[in-house]
Amino acid sequence: MKNLLTILEERISEALRKAGGPAEAAALVSPSKNPAFGDYQANGVMAAAKQLKTNPRQLAEQVVRLLQINDLCETVEIAGPGFINLRLKPSLLEQRLLGMFTDPVRLGMEPAEKPKTIVVDYSGPNIAKEMHVGHLRSTIIGDWIARVHDFEGHRVIRQNHIGDWGTQFGMLTAYLKAEYLHVLDNPSSAAIADLEVFYQNAKQRSEQDPEFEKTARAEVVKLHNHDPETIRLWQHIVEQSRRHYQPIYALLNITLKREDERGESFYAAMLPEVVKELRQKGLAVDSEGAVCVFPKGFVGKDGAPLPFIIQKSDGAYLYATTDLAALRFRIAHLGADKIVYVTDARQTLHFQMLFETARAAGWTDSRVELVHVTFGTMLGPDGRPFKTREGGTVKLKDLLEEAVEKARAVVEEKNPSLPAEQKAAIARAVGIGAVKYADYANNRDTDYVFSFDKMLAMDGNTAPYMQYAYARIRSIERKAAGKEVDVERELAGIERVVLSDAAEIELAKKLISYEQAIESAAASYRPNLLTAYLYDLSQSFSRFYNACPVLGAPADVRPSRLLLCELTARVIRHGMQDLLGIETPEQM
Ligand code: ARG
Repeated sequence: MKNLLTILEERISEALRKAGGPAEAAALVSPSKNPAFGDYQANGVMAAAKQLKTNPRQLAEQVVRLLQINDLCETVEIAGPGFINLRLKPSLLEQRLLGMFTDPVRLGMEPAEKPKTIVVDYSGPNIAKEMHVGHLRSTIIGDWIARVHDFEGHRVIRQNHIGDWGTQFGMLTAYLKAEYLHVLDNPSSAAIADLEVFYQNAKQRSEQDPEFEKTARAEVVKLHNHDPETIRLWQHIVEQSRRHYQPIYALLNITLKREDERGESFYAAMLPEVVKELRQKGLAVDSEGAVCVFPKGFVGKDGAPLPFIIQKSDGAYLYATTDLAALRFRIAHLGADKIVYVTDARQTLHFQMLFETARAAGWTDSRVELVHVTFGTMLGPDGRPFKTREGGTVKLKDLLEEAVEKARAVVEEKNPSLPAEQKAAIARAVGIGAVKYADYANNRDTDYVFSFDKMLAMDGNTAPYMQYAYARIRSIERKAAGKEVDVERELAGIERVVLSDAAEIELAKKLISYEQAIESAAASYRPNLLTAYLYDLSQSFSRFYNACPVLGAPADVRPSRLLLCELTARVIRHGMQDLLGIETPEQM
């Protein structure tokens, strides 16, 4: 089905032009904030009237007179200085509900007419260190962005820009050589049990042992010169890190695959070329021994231009240099129309300077969109950045295991009689879902306090609440069998949807606006708009279910009510499972 908002926009824009509005006049239709005034509102008349220097109210009247919209709306009213309020017809609701129902995969939503190639750069853990909670947000917000663009029909290229090439690798390969000699013969046999300990030990050794420190520095040079022996050790460390983060991705239902990994090392060979090119273009200059770009518009507190450093005085390249190479590669070789970077807000300046440098270098133009999606910090109960009781960083794995453990208690309380295996699966879905959902449901710009109690609560905008709402609908359907209602048959034979009760109409309107919820969430990279919609939907469903009997309904309205149940379940499952990557068990 064609997007409803697009249809309304086209119809009203056309009337606006017919009424004498400027050729490029737009109706600017959006969902109404207050249902008392209607379902949609067109706000474009005022701007058009201003341009024409006419009275907006009169122009609005003219537009309404010329508007052909009887098939979609029952009332069209003018409000205030020239807003046009529209209320959808029940027949349109019926038609759209049926369209959603007959398309179980896309729920009636059409893929983008002009698909784009979109690179989403997210997660990007630093190798040889365990992933900690700071990586959680990039991983899950980025994954949602990738999934939602996928669903919209774009060609999404996921990129895991892992930190695998820093100077710390000299110390690590040197340590591996010194302490894990046996791996030199058979690297695959030597698992590093605890990456964090390995890293700390190597660091300690290089701080305390000057001889070792020297070797470590020599190792970096060897690594960066692709010495085969050092490369082999380095590969081992990278492989060991992968062994650590892949299971976390699996646990979190993250769609990143091995082939999406293109770490800093991949760009290493391109860095001299990047610096050379920027020099030739007159953008990179020597400054206090380093090579810097001074992107336009960036000044420090003292008013002096801010440097974007791309090569240090010792010849070493930096995070910025690699990002320049990666950006250029993604546009030139991956064909990106848009690149979305997902990192915490502390990297804002880095990305602003990166984008400006890329523009100045001519690597991007107005056809390529560069976006930095930022997020705040996850805080502990004390309102300070999340830490263990001892003040260390919390390992992601421990946190997720604890969540599952706590969810087990919730399941035990709700449904003690389920088979153990099923309880374990539900606990996993609820525990992991709760952590992800709490993050998604939060406005990503603001810091938030991580609280197991809050995220596992059965009421409020939480994963368990949404999962329960879903399972409850499924249980209504299961109960039907006992009442000798053949849900499948009633739904298969449905030709008309009857909506009479106000609660039915409210739910129907919510259901058909799913597409807009996805769109506005995707356009602003804000998953909390999607979770808010899902929560709203489940509340509309509750009101409907309280007001309208379903299984006990008269035979002529029962199929319609079953359809509302089924569609609500499908939308919740789609939003949760397909878009947010949160499982929705059939039973809880
Ligand atoms: N490894 C980086 C970090 O931990 C994140 C990488 C983000 N992506 C990028 N292209 N810079 O901060």
